[in-house]
Amino acid sequence: MTYNKRQIALLTGGGDCAGLNAVIRAVVKTATFEYSWDVLGIENGFEGLILPGKVRRLSVEDVRGILPRGGTILGTTNRANPFAYEEILPGGRVMFHDRSDEVLNRLAELGVDGLIVIGGDGTMRITHELIQKGLQAVGVPKTIDNDIHGTQVTFGFDTALNTAMDALDKLHTTAESHHRVLILEVMGRNAGWIALKAGVAGGADVILIPEIPFTLQEVANKIIERSQNNKKFSLVIVAEGAKPVGGSEVYQEICESSGVRRLGGIGALVEAGLRQLIESEIRVTVLGHLQRGGSPTAFDRLLASRYGNMAVHLVAERNFGQMVALRDDQIVSIPISEAVDIQKFVPLDSDIITTAFGLNISLGNTRALIQKMAS
Ligand code: F6P
Repeated sequence: MTYNKRQIALLTGGGDCAGLNAVIRAVVKTATFEYSWDVLGIENGFEGLILPGKVRRLSVEDVRGILPRGGTILGTTNRANPFAYEEILPGGRVMFHDRSDEVLNRLAELGVDGLIVIGGDGTMRITHELIQKGLQAVGVPKTIDNDIHGTQVTFGFDTALNTAMDALDKLHTTAESHHRVLILEVMGRNAGWIALKAGVAGGADVILIPEIPFTLQEVANKIIERSQNNKKFSLVIVAEGAKPVGGSEVYQEICESSGVRRLGGIGALVEAGLRQLIESEIRVTVLGHLQRGGSPTAFDRLLASRYGNMAVHLVAERNFGQMVALRDDQIVSIPISEAVDIQKFVPLDSDIITTAFGLNISLGNTRALIQKMAS
């Protein structure tokens, strides 16, 4: 294939979230209307540059109507690291190969002059490694977990947050009607952003986040205190990565060969522990992938559109190796390297933690200990 005008490409990698299509749309529109470039869409993350037949031209027509749609029209995967590309041998044995050169060669063969990579920390890390090998790329941070360092917020987070808050609102009425303790387990990996913010916004009585190891006795104390004050129901929100003091995270799957570890099950563990300490009826709801789907909120649509637009301008300036980010409400760019080394956790001196205390919400441990941890 030969092209006379500049051509860029984009891909989505890692777990999906709301707003991916809004970025794709913004990239295609900005590249077309501002620069008259051609845009290639790569299917299923970096895998689309390894397997044949996974590249297609994206025109403005192709992105029409996708702004409110969840998911990604390009498809995605969180199992296609070109530096450790999985091959399943007969008999089920798994081997990993470095196919990163193929990715670079394929982009050169396609005549791509600038790749926009939309993904979470794993995808940003892969992109950073490929940049060391000569890839000309710009990153766009996404994830419901909001744990990417260097940006105030990732798109996808606000939609997930609203879904979790809505779930708490719905659980509230059942908890109240049946005088029950209802536990909501939410995603977020080992960062507590969804649980903390949804917990405060949704009126939870107990919020358990990975940053603050909890004791079941503290949780029970809050429920008992409420009961003594004639509040015969309680709402507990627990992040999937939360852990008890001296304990560890709960996984629903650990795959030794690939190293993939899927968190899940802490809600059931809290339920089992509370049964020994309180008399109320307890039920657990695991919100799961509902948090990743649905139509993006206005905040996420706007952020995703601003990110996509900025990413194209960075490619135009040949400012590669950068990731778009939100800082002080402005879209800026930072070196991708800054984003890949550190994970962004909830700071224990956050005013949201202080607000939770002020609202008499239990964070699963004593205030004194949490303040000590923060200092
Ligand atoms: O990173 C996004 C996320 O949804 C996490 O919150 C969660 O732990 C994980 O992905 C689930 O991944 P999968 O969809 O592969 O089970």
